[in-house]
Amino acid sequence: MKKWWQKEVIYQIYPKSFYDSNGDGIGDVKGITEKLDYLSDLGVTMLWLCPIYRSPMDDNGYDISDYYQLNPEFGTMEDLDELIEKAKKKNIKIILDLVINHTSDEHPWFQDAINNPNSPYKDYYIFKEGKDGEEPTNWRSIFGGSVWEKVKDTNEYYLHVFSKKQPDLNWENEKVRNDLYDMVNYWLDKGLAGFRVDAITFIKKDQSYESIPSDGVDGLAKVTKCARNQKGIEKFLTELKEKTFSKYDCVTVGEAPGVPYDQLEDFIGEKGYFSMIFDFSYADLDVESGSEWFKRRNWTIKELRDRIFKSQLEMQKVGWGAIFSENHDQPRSISKYIKEEDRNYYSTTMLAALFFFLRGTPFIYQGQEIGMTNFERTSIDDFNDLSSIDQYYRSLEEGFSKEEALHIVNLRSRDNGRTPFHWDDTKNAGFSLGTPWIKLNENYTEINLKAEENKKDSVLEFYKKIIQIRQNGKYSDCLIYGDILPLDIDIDDIIAYQRCYENQNIVCVFNFSNKSQSISLPIKSTDIVLNNYDTISITEQEINLKPFQLVLIATEKV
Ligand code: NOJ
Ligand code: CA
Repeated sequence: MKKWWQKEVIYQIYPKSFYDSNGDGIGDVKGITEKLDYLSDLGVTMLWLCPIYRSPMDDNGYDISDYYQLNPEFGTMEDLDELIEKAKKKNIKIILDLVINHTSDEHPWFQDAINNPNSPYKDYYIFKEGKDGEEPTNWRSIFGGSVWEKVKDTNEYYLHVFSKKQPDLNWENEKVRNDLYDMVNYWLDKGLAGFRVDAITFIKKDQSYESIPSDGVDGLAKVTKCARNQKGIEKFLTELKEKTFSKYDCVTVGEAPGVPYDQLEDFIGEKGYFSMIFDFSYADLDVESGSEWFKRRNWTIKELRDRIFKSQLEMQKVGWGAIFSENHDQPRSISKYIKEEDRNYYSTTMLAALFFFLRGTPFIYQGQEIGMTNFERTSIDDFNDLSSIDQYYRSLEEGFSKEEALHIVNLRSRDNGRTPFHWDDTKNAGFSLGTPWIKLNENYTEINLKAEENKKDSVLEFYKKIIQIRQNGKYSDCLIYGDILPLDIDIDDIIAYQRCYENQNIVCVFNFSNKSQSISLPIKSTDIVLNNYDTISITEQEINLKPFQLVLIATEKV
């Protein structure tokens, strides 16, 4: 059955770095409202805002100290109401980030839990006694060090899967769950279209709370083995859906790492916990494990293709996917997938279309649509992201030199995607009249929105075009709802698939190489839906592609 959220195009905003309306160096909600014309003109239909709730900002808002207030830096509840209302007038919906695996350690629940001996909130978190002066278990937190932090002057420790300023909530406690459900419903009643649901596969912990064999030099063991997608999580996720989401016609996008494909059916599809989930299998193909960046992998285009297709086919079997190539935790896609010497209009647009026309709801991360790239920092002091700092020291620990460690972090740092948006080539890229909270990418004088707007054949123009083709074109049904069918091409750096819907069929071919290449495909029609060059050479048997050329062709099924 078709769902309204399948036809959305979602634009992800990192509010801190989007647009600063009052010159304090920090992007804010009013700043987003001021840019609604731009977003509407781009053609996106929904905005996902990274956390804007009250927060000490240890993890830039993923550490919430009040679920019912906005962080003053971002503005007031009235500002948010205004944004929701004005966006609605432009047919743009808003979803927020839902962070319910943990709170901030500055949340009143946690403060009461550690300061009040009879606190009713003690059981809102996970406290365990130390063993012989040591941590309760050897589990390693995602952001480095132990998951356990000692409570001052006691032998008690609390668990944090992420930073020590992000204590995990105790989902085993019904009161916690009900408080969270009330909060979710409060926001949905406000008129939000739904949520992106943060780190949701971490809410259930292995209840034995035992150490497991270490897998690092520090004697610690991956927390993903004992606190991610654990047995019993189904009870919590079913209840969450029943008591909140299912009462509304909302969209939910689960950040659900660690879900094997054979469990997808529980997570998405008619009976799934969420409308769609992200699959990180191809986003993380440059590293062995998403959280240890020094374990880099040499990957090939064929591997990327195989991973994308595997993911698409598994999702298609049971439900719907969330399609992305960038977000606030990932490097910029051009920098990750395209070699430096090959970065140009053709490779950038080829990459954009490759992801955009996969089956699922496409996400565009702020700045992606103007071709923003990674920003190389020359000192570890220039990083803000706590996982970058952790990974720098982890790399040193593993024996890498300082230069190597910096290089590793530059490739993967979450700060790559968090530099302010480039509006123009004036001071601070037009982002702020004050001092930006984080260094700008120095290439803003060349890569910026204004320059894109003044250029013929710009990346921006291309994004507008692909959005228009998917949303309001002759082949919209096919490009939105159509099945995906990978095409078996024996050239390793060409990716090709078909989208098929009723009597429509679109062949999509992407030359992921700086050389011209031909593939044999019997194409009957020459109704070119999209092409990043002016021309395309197609014979009855062959398509001849120029370097990084992409074409979408409406044709009979091949
Ligand atoms: C995933 C978020 O995307 C990331 O930015 C954050 O640090 C962690 N979850 C913890 O909330
Ligand atoms: Ca501001």
